[in-house]
Amino acid sequence: MEKNQNTRDGRNESLWQKNTSALTPASEFNPSKIYDVLIVGAGITGITTALLVQKAGLHCVIAEAHNPGYGTTGGTSAHINTFADTTFAEVESAFSKDAAKQFANSIVESVELIHELVETYKIDCDFEWKKGYVYSQTDDETKELDDILESSIRVGVEVVVTTQVPVNVAYQKAIVFNGQAQFHPLKYIYALQAEFINLGGVLIENILIQDIESEQDVHTATSDSTQIKAKAVVYATHIPPGGVNVLHFRNAPYRSYVIAATLTNDAYPEGLVYDMQEPYHYFRTHVIDGQKYLVAGGHDHKTGHGDPEQSFADLIEFTKKCYPVKEVFTQWSAQYFVPADGLPYIGKLPGAPDGIYAATGFNGNGMILGTVSAMVLSDLILQGESEYEALFNPGRIKPIAGFTEIVKENADVVARFIGDRFGVEKIESVFQLPTDSGDIVEYHGQKLAIYKDSTGNVQALDPVCTHAKCIVNWNNAEKSWDCPCHGARFDTDGTVLTGPARENLREINLNVLTEN
Ligand code: FES
Repeated sequence: MEKNQNTRDGRNESLWQKNTSALTPASEFNPSKIYDVLIVGAGITGITTALLVQKAGLHCVIAEAHNPGYGTTGGTSAHINTFADTTFAEVESAFSKDAAKQFANSIVESVELIHELVETYKIDCDFEWKKGYVYSQTDDETKELDDILESSIRVGVEVVVTTQVPVNVAYQKAIVFNGQAQFHPLKYIYALQAEFINLGGVLIENILIQDIESEQDVHTATSDSTQIKAKAVVYATHIPPGGVNVLHFRNAPYRSYVIAATLTNDAYPEGLVYDMQEPYHYFRTHVIDGQKYLVAGGHDHKTGHGDPEQSFADLIEFTKKCYPVKEVFTQWSAQYFVPADGLPYIGKLPGAPDGIYAATGFNGNGMILGTVSAMVLSDLILQGESEYEALFNPGRIKPIAGFTEIVKENADVVARFIGDRFGVEKIESVFQLPTDSGDIVEYHGQKLAIYKDSTGNVQALDPVCTHAKCIVNWNNAEKSWDCPCHGARFDTDGTVLTGPARENLREINLNVLTEN
């Protein structure tokens, strides 16, 4: 048994990383074998899919660029809901009533699947059934809340009006969903991972898949150190890495902010609580090692835009207005992808050979939609079909008039492609930077991503994102370079933290520039 690393794609430590580690039985990888399925990425999507196909008798290998839970699963706020950020009313209007019903069914099934896996494998992951409260504070919010209530009832999701919301703020109207839940996401995926390996599955950590070539129904994935052959491949990496795929333009990357705080009294909410403000907020309680924490989140913004430090400050200030905060124990942020037409993209990867699948566009509902993805993808691999195949088909062409936000997002991406090459303010000296921070500067005629570490050493990088050449922005909260176009993120030394980029940012030798 080896102890897993427990790192994440940011400097801040999430509540789930504290005092948690996985014990993984060693699994043997055979480079000359043709596996049934290669899964790229060991978050909730990859590990659940791997377990389902391995349990059905296929032989599966997971290739993870870092360690399990390194991406969004390690930074989620771990809500399990029977409703989603895209409301059933929105799905009815953009797709159809049947589509909304199907969407609801898939979500309810995913909640049941998570519970079934917890029960079957006796997983100690703090799983608890909860009620989920949503409340409105303005007339517009109340109208929207009524839409949520009525459309949820139409699709068969259990919800009623309530006057008892466990939060100390005034509200106009509130509804409560039964059958919601919460858990510890890392304990959950570590347990699934252990079961997967017990069943003969293979997990390889610290392996970055650079390329996949397909020939005669066999896909060969290449990394720096080895090749993996498989009959089917699943990209469980949010949007697939590498060259520009249509999914990169159908999803907008967002950063989401979370804190875990202790309170001065026992006012911790019994349940999951959501407001409807713009930006929205949510609250829940989680107990770690006997200590209760208020988990609060919100103040999301598009990756590479906005001010991450301000988002944390605003979230903390707002939380203090709602609960008697004693101390912020930890704070962290995570990334999710907003889909163009409101529904996730799960299934065959557009433009790729047969047998290559992807799952993305989960909005802020990664735990349930990652699990829905595992249901759909395992059915597609095992049976060649899924009842949700058409609804979530990544190749669907859908008018997106109802989703003006994403049109704006895509216009923004195009503007970044063109505009960022020019017009960055000229900064004469990189030495003005405070320590442990970064900035895009122009230096001796060249645009640079400059990071000054805590000892004053300066690291210069080419700020051109290696995915599709947008210019990265500095994220001072997570100490990373974030791409505003498709959400790739890089460490201060240029190493890829988050796809779709596969190549690190290019290092620039400042001395060479100075001499020219
Ligand atoms: Fe696509 Fe940077 S992530 S250009």
